[in-house]
Order: sequence, then structure tokens, then C-alpha cells
Amino acid sequence: MDVFDAIYARRAVKHFDPHHEMTQAEVDRLLEAAIQAPTSFNIQHWRFVVVRDPELRRQIRANGNDQAQMTDASLLVLMTADVQAWRKQPERYWANAPKEVADEDRAVLPAARGVRSVPRRDPAAAACAFTPPSTTAPS
Ligand SMILES: Cc1cc2nc3c(=O)[nH]c(=O)nc-3n(C[C@H](O)[C@H](O)[C@H](O)COP(=O)(O)O)c2cc1C
Repeated sequence: MDVFDAIYARRAVKHFDPHHEMTQAEVDRLLEAAIQAPTSFNIQHWRFVVVRDPELRRQIRANGNDQAQMTDASLLVLMTADVQAWRKQPERYWANAPKEVADEDRAVLPAARGVRSVPRRDPAAAACAFTPPSTTAPS
């Protein structure tokens, strides 16, 4: 698909068939596509929570402005983030990078740790926002 066709054809989908069920292969393919999204330092600290329990989905809907897609879409994914992910072997992020990139990343990583004026949740929220929203799909 042409990139401009993709941009102009995309719409926020608000109505879903509540009886449609996605196959596990379709869910896997979507989530696999979602993790192609960029993250700061390539930390990949988003954590996708697939909510399947109907009662839990009803509660989420009640707390989410009663938006029908929270119960009616065949897949509901909560975007969460591990704000401590940077502690877990951060050298993995630049393992395959050229030396100058690795040196720079090692030097500036503290900004991602939430020291001083950079709250840890901000890069985490940005990473979640970069992934394809669950209510959005090509028309
Ligand atoms: C940050 C953000 C939050 C949004 N939140 C919701 C939402 O809670 N519920 C919803 O139905 N649509 C939500 N939308 C989708 C917008 O309503 C939609 O993108 C906008 O109306 C433009 O329509 P389009 O995406 O079809 O061009 C959100 C969009 C953005 C960018």
C-alpha cells in the first residue's frame, strides 16, 4: 500500500461487531506488528495486557466514559509500561549499535531513568502512544 493511501485511509473505528471473534493467529499477528513500534533507546518497556474477561471489560468500560468499543471490540489491549525496565541489562539496547552510538546511549541513558526533570512515566507514555491505538485501523 502507498504510504499516502495508508495515511489518508486510516480512521478511528468506533463501532464493532460484538459477536466477532478473532483467531489467536490474528491476535498474534496484530501484537507482533504492534511491537515494531519505536521506543526510546529501544527499551521496549511497553507491556500489552489482553483483557478477555467480560466482567472486567464491563468494569473498564464503566470507568472509561462508557465507550462501547471497550466491551464490543473483539480485542481489548491495555497499554501499560514497565518504568523500571531500564534497570534490566540496559547494555542490551546498544549491543548491536556502532561504537559511537553505544557510547552516546550509555552516556545519556540516565535521562530515561527519571532523574531530575524527566519523570520515568513520560518516555513510557510516549512509547505506548507510538504503538497503533486499538481503536484505529485502516478503513
Ligand atoms: C490521544 C487520542 C485519544 C483518543 N481517545 C479516544 C477515545 O477515548 N475514544 C475514542 O473513541 N476515540 C479516541 N480517539 C480517536 C479520535 O476521536 C479520532 O482520531 C478523531 O476523532 C479523528 O478521527 P479519525 O482518526 O477517524 O480521523 C483518540 C485519539 C487520540 C489521538
